[in-house]
Amino acid sequence: MPDRIFIEGGVPLRGEVTASGAKNAALPLMAASLLLPGELVLENVPGLRDVVTMRRLLEHLGVRCREEGGALSLDASGADMWDAPYDLVKTMRASVLVLGPLVARFGRARVSQPGGCAIGARPINRHIQALEAMGAAVWLEHGYVVAQADRLKGAEIVFEAPTVTGTENIMMAAVLADGETTLINAAMEPEVKDLATALNAMGARIEGAGTGEIRIQGVTSLSPTTYSVMPDRIETGTYIAAAGITGGDVKILKCVPGHLRAVIERMEKAGIAVEKGQDWIRARGDMGIKAVDVITDPYPGFPTDMQAQFMALMALSRGLSTVTETIFEQRFMHVPELCRMGADITLSERRAAIRGVERLSGAPVMATDLRASASLVLAGLGAAEGVTEVSRVYHLDRGYEKLDEKLASLGGRIWRAVG
Ligand code: EPU
Repeated sequence: MPDRIFIEGGVPLRGEVTASGAKNAALPLMAASLLLPGELVLENVPGLRDVVTMRRLLEHLGVRCREEGGALSLDASGADMWDAPYDLVKTMRASVLVLGPLVARFGRARVSQPGGCAIGARPINRHIQALEAMGAAVWLEHGYVVAQADRLKGAEIVFEAPTVTGTENIMMAAVLADGETTLINAAMEPEVKDLATALNAMGARIEGAGTGEIRIQGVTSLSPTTYSVMPDRIETGTYIAAAGITGGDVKILKCVPGHLRAVIERMEKAGIAVEKGQDWIRARGDMGIKAVDVITDPYPGFPTDMQAQFMALMALSRGLSTVTETIFEQRFMHVPELCRMGADITLSERRAAIRGVERLSGAPVMATDLRASASLVLAGLGAAEGVTEVSRVYHLDRGYEKLDEKLASLGGRIWRAVG
């Protein structure tokens, strides 16, 4: 039986917790190792199931992966494969991040097409169109995307709408391309900038990452480097919500407050007192959570990856709020589960209307995706009575490092039954 997490709520969380390295920065950085016939050492890599999956994929491609003194060393000198098989890609969509690096380094790639997932259809047409604009021949064959190019050529690429992994994939491809590539309407997420900083440390020439226009001068080769993965802003935001929903007082260490402006602004409106320093955030909640609307947007807007957690908070607010999801069409799987705990939420298309209730009560609930699982854990912490049993915890373990242990260290009554 898979692991389950049990939570008995009603305890204000107190104390300090350290943010882990960001999942969505670590995964593209790991894929970037394929660009280099040498060693890329990554520090601050979080201990997550998705990181293990990416490591397995890289090993399959011939990358030598070793842990050394808390860092992850990736050496693609001997990489000799260019196919990412269905079995690995189906468990983690971020596997598509090997597409750009493989074509750039080996002139070919065969990557299983990621299917739909619990939060929406999630096509990769923008990745493919951009590779074609750079001169690659791309075709679909038996459920795989196959791409081929002698050497990719620099191009001006206008994304019809921003895509995070699409921007990362094409930025990695462009690093070794012939000439200059410009990405217009690029994703501005801090994880894109983190990847660009690491690539530049390896000898790439990228300007403008973190803005909507990125310029990349192709180089012929990259060199080994050591790089530390940025802190996880979504994990940080989840701990702010945990402080808020329990009326607690939590200081999150080793985070980047500047990456959470939109989240902090909404949390403050909801009545959570937020103090911040250079690399820490202190969040204090009281029991009067205010109703606040949110609309998800690409960075620097409110992140879709915090939507479910914010909704758990709103479930206990005083009043009526709405949550509008503009990025993923099906990212409301947590709603029926929150309602089983006593939340009053009605859904219409991409908007949830939440009427705050006075109390939630513990219930057995099922995790459906990573952030939905986090929202159920938060609801469990905020529940005034009863025990919440979250099953299918493997979703949570994909993207949160030791969430249960970290919450327990803050005084939360939360424990895991190992399956
Ligand atoms: N889209 C297309 N065509 C494409 C690419 C994207 O239609 O070729 C659509 C998507 O279906 C979606 C929108 O564009 O509606 C934005 O998707 P994006 O490509 O930006 O998402 P992603 O790169 O697949 C990353 C994160 C997600 C996060 C989103 C949005 C990684 C590994 N994943 O996904 O993280 O929700 O950006 O910020 O970086 C999570 O951590 O829980 C997670 C799902």
